[in-house]
Amino acid sequence: MDSFKIKAVAKQVPEKVVTNDDLAEILDTSDDWIRRRTGIRRRHVASGLQNTNLCTAVANQLLDKAGVAATDLDFIIVATMSPDYQTPATAAQVQGRLGAKRAVAFDINAACAGFVYGTVTLHRLLQQTPHGMGLIIGSEQLSKLLDWHDRSTAVLFGDGASGMLVANDASESRMLATDLQTFGEDSQAITAGQFGVCSPFSAEKVPAQPAFQMDGHRVYNFAKQQVPASIRRALIKANLTTDQIKYFVLHQANARIIDRIAKQLDVPSERFPQNIAEYGNTAAASEPLVLNDLVEQQCLKRGDLLVLSGFGGGLTVGTIILRY
Ligand code: ACO
Repeated sequence: MDSFKIKAVAKQVPEKVVTNDDLAEILDTSDDWIRRRTGIRRRHVASGLQNTNLCTAVANQLLDKAGVAATDLDFIIVATMSPDYQTPATAAQVQGRLGAKRAVAFDINAACAGFVYGTVTLHRLLQQTPHGMGLIIGSEQLSKLLDWHDRSTAVLFGDGASGMLVANDASESRMLATDLQTFGEDSQAITAGQFGVCSPFSAEKVPAQPAFQMDGHRVYNFAKQQVPASIRRALIKANLTTDQIKYFVLHQANARIIDRIAKQLDVPSERFPQNIAEYGNTAAASEPLVLNDLVEQQCLKRGDLLVLSGFGGGLTVGTIILRY
């Protein structure tokens, strides 16, 4: 079997912290409601157009930590639903800033499952590239997709970036299973960033609708059904049981969803690490932010098995099982 070694993880979040009390000053909400319903206490919010900057900062840290030259990278994949531009891709800008001339660079948009979808894509590309190396970074500036008058969405999201540098190193750790699914029939359950149409040749003018619209209940029900099912399928493919998994790193959309999934899988919630209190829902950045915390806090040792599972807009769900 091929290998897939995580050589470094890194994160970058904007300095500005917005607490629930800060939000209660501009919206009809409260710290109590937000904490009870979501587990969120604060989030980091960027100023100006920052997605590419956050992402480049993560990329530079990853190269430093792994002791790798930018010119040795073969791939740069950025998972994002909130790029600074429709084109160029965030990954292409990062490639240019790093001077990673050899790297093929592109973005992937699978919303909150983007990091898992992007990691599977990088894995498949590296399989064709002996001794190859690549970056997969989840990077979001969701604050620019929010209607700050809409309390039902404005309290949920945050900005940040995190990712990993991965190498195809035949002697090292492995990707043990992947499970991706897309449920396009439910695509209107979460929308954001809809373009407007104002062409003089269009009979219909469509106003742009940048802000998030979400059917929270529908997404909640989707997550509680599809995430455990995806994790179970991945475990079966890898011939593993939940007992063999050190940590289940789930998309941080809502602490209640994570606790519920832990119960459904009959796994103690301590093995479902959470950092939603600090960052809110950062979509594609959320699983690597948890992974980065686990590494920084020295909770992982080489050989530990990890489940990463994301879900969100699309609707999408994706699970991978990795040996760290
Ligand atoms: N502050 C205070 N009250 C609020 C707020 C708020 N910020 N938001 C809503 N309320 C009110 C509602 O108006 C409602 O009031 P009512 O009972 O008088 O009608 C009440 O609180 C309950 O609202 P619900 O929507 O039923 O609250 P719920 O417990 O379902 O929580 C939430 C809402 C947090 C959005 C939840 O449904 C959820 O987490 N859903 C999943 C979302 C998700 O996972 N998204 C991930 C994908 S995101 C992506 O892909 C980018």
